[in-house]
Amino acid sequence: MKSKWYLFIMVLVLSTILVACGSDSEEASGDSGDSGETYTVATDNNFVPFEFMNEETGEMEGFDIDLIKAIAEEAGFNVEIESMKFDGVVAGMQSGRYDIGIAGMTITEERKETIDFSDPYYDAGLMLAVSADNEEIKSADDLTGKKVGTRSGTTSEAYIKENHPDAELITFPGIVEAYMDLEAGRLDAVMYDVPNVQYYVANDSEGLKTAGDILQGEQYGIAFPKDSELVEDVNEALQTLIDNGTYDDIYEKWFGERKYGTESSE
Ligand code: ARG
Repeated sequence: MKSKWYLFIMVLVLSTILVACGSDSEEASGDSGDSGETYTVATDNNFVPFEFMNEETGEMEGFDIDLIKAIAEEAGFNVEIESMKFDGVVAGMQSGRYDIGIAGMTITEERKETIDFSDPYYDAGLMLAVSADNEEIKSADDLTGKKVGTRSGTTSEAYIKENHPDAELITFPGIVEAYMDLEAGRLDAVMYDVPNVQYYVANDSEGLKTAGDILQGEQYGIAFPKDSELVEDVNEALQTLIDNGTYDDIYEKWFGERKYGTESSE
């Protein structure tokens, strides 16, 4: 009888341990101990170098990922990162399905109507990529009648519609598809965020170059469902990381020496 109880208790203890281990295997990170709350973070699945899948480890990596983990650690909460299409991040904030969104998302007046943003954390803008041997398109003034690709639902799409109605706009669900069409000669140019265009051209592309200057200044913000109580905590943590140099360390890891950091936006 005694040994039966012993067995029962052993099984109970063992299964408790197993369950505890199992719940740890999520994409949880930003570990700040066991105490804090866990919040879901929606991010994009492919926006170098802010967020992308490391094929070897199967983990999401990038500037945004490092930043939100550091913010979580500073503010004392845990994060569970989920990657999806960019539109899903915006929609996920509007519906309140996720607690936090970080995806190189530009703070715009229009989005502010349905989403809350942190203070700006990165100065960006828009830029063109063209084929390296393209001598025709030297700036956005040369886009008339040209096939210009970008990602749907982004500020680039809005910018082209508004400023270059005489260009032939072609939108893609993911920006890499647009770059590939440009490489294959099916597009004349791609317009997208400066840091992404520069990074892709330098590291991932074959035979592409940037063209012209920065077209429109933009700032990225961390997104939240409207009236989220997290905004203040995240802003405070972000400021601490800027003050104590952690932000600069993360910046340098992904961009090298600071070229267009946040110093102008403080
Ligand atoms: N900054 C632009 C926007 O907010 C493009 C962002 C794209 N981000 C991404 N993770 N794919 O519309």
